[in-house]
Amino acid sequence: MKSAVIGHPIAHSKSPTIHQYWLDQHGLEGSYDAVDIAPAELSLKIQKMVSDGYTGFNVTLPHKQNIMALCDEIDETAQKIGAVNTVSIRDGKLLGTNTDAFGFIENIKMSYADFSFTGKSVFVLGAGGASRAVIYGLIQQGVKTIKLSNRTIEKAQDIQEMAPDIIQVVPWEQRSQSLDQVDILVNTTALGMVGKASLDINIESLPVDALVSDIVYTPLMTDLLKQAEARGNKVVTGIGMLLHQARPAFEQWTGILPAVTVELEQKILK
Ligand code: ATR
Repeated sequence: MKSAVIGHPIAHSKSPTIHQYWLDQHGLEGSYDAVDIAPAELSLKIQKMVSDGYTGFNVTLPHKQNIMALCDEIDETAQKIGAVNTVSIRDGKLLGTNTDAFGFIENIKMSYADFSFTGKSVFVLGAGGASRAVIYGLIQQGVKTIKLSNRTIEKAQDIQEMAPDIIQVVPWEQRSQSLDQVDILVNTTALGMVGKASLDINIESLPVDALVSDIVYTPLMTDLLKQAEARGNKVVTGIGMLLHQARPAFEQWTGILPAVTVELEQKILK
C-alpha cells in the first residue's frame, strides 16, 4: 500500500499519523506521505502519483472540488456532497469517493451506541464544505428536518437544493431563537476553534435531551460543548469525525476496515 494525503498547505495534517498507526497495528508494509501540491500543479502531480504506483490518496483543502475533474469515476456519495476526499487508483484509473459523511455519522454512533437519527429534527450551523457532508450523512440516516443557518445565507440556500423538502434555511441572526424542538445541534463552522472567533449562540431553549456535536476539535471541548454538557445535553467532540473518515480510505487500499482506539485518539490529540 502506497498512499498519501494531498493538500496545500499539508504539513499539519494528522492523516499520516492515523494511517501509520493502522499500518503498524496490522503489521502491513506500506507508506502514507503528506504531499504538498499547489493548485496550479494538481493535474501534473497526480499523473506522477499514478505513474509512481500509488494505491490511493486522501484529498484535503484546497483540492476537494478540483480533484473531481481528474477522476475517472466518482461515486454517488461524493457527487451528492460535491467533493472528493478519498481516491483509489485501480489500473491507472482514479476512483473518487467521500468518507466525511461516514466519519460524522460513525462518530456519533460510536459515542452513543443506541442513538437513532430516524425522524429527528436537526439544526446545523455553517454551510461550508464540511456542512454538505454532515447534511448528506444526516439525510441518509433518515432525519426528518434540517434547519440550516449560515452567516452568508446564499451558501445555505445552495445546500438547501440538495433536499428542499427536508432542509429549511434559518437567518443567522435567528439561530438562538430556533432551537426549541431540536434533537441534534451541529456546529460545522470554524467558530470556537483556537485562533478563531467564538461561536456566539444562546442554547437556553434547546431541549436538554438533545445531542450536541461540534466538528471543531481544537479545543476538544469547545465552548458550545461545555455549555451543552453543563446543562445535561449529550455531547460529541470533533476528533472522532477526523478519525472515522479515515477508516473507509484505509479499507479501500488494504482490504481492512481498521478501528478507532483510545490509544489512536490520544496520539492524535497530543
Ligand atoms: P469548511 O469547508 O471546512 O467547512 P469553510 O468553507 O471555510 O470551511 O466554511 C467555514 C464555515 O464557517 C462557513 O459556514 C462560514 O460562514 P460563511 O459561509 O458566512 O463564510 C463559517 N464562518 C467562518 N467564520 C465565521 C464568522 N466569523 N461568523 C460566522 N460564520 C463564520
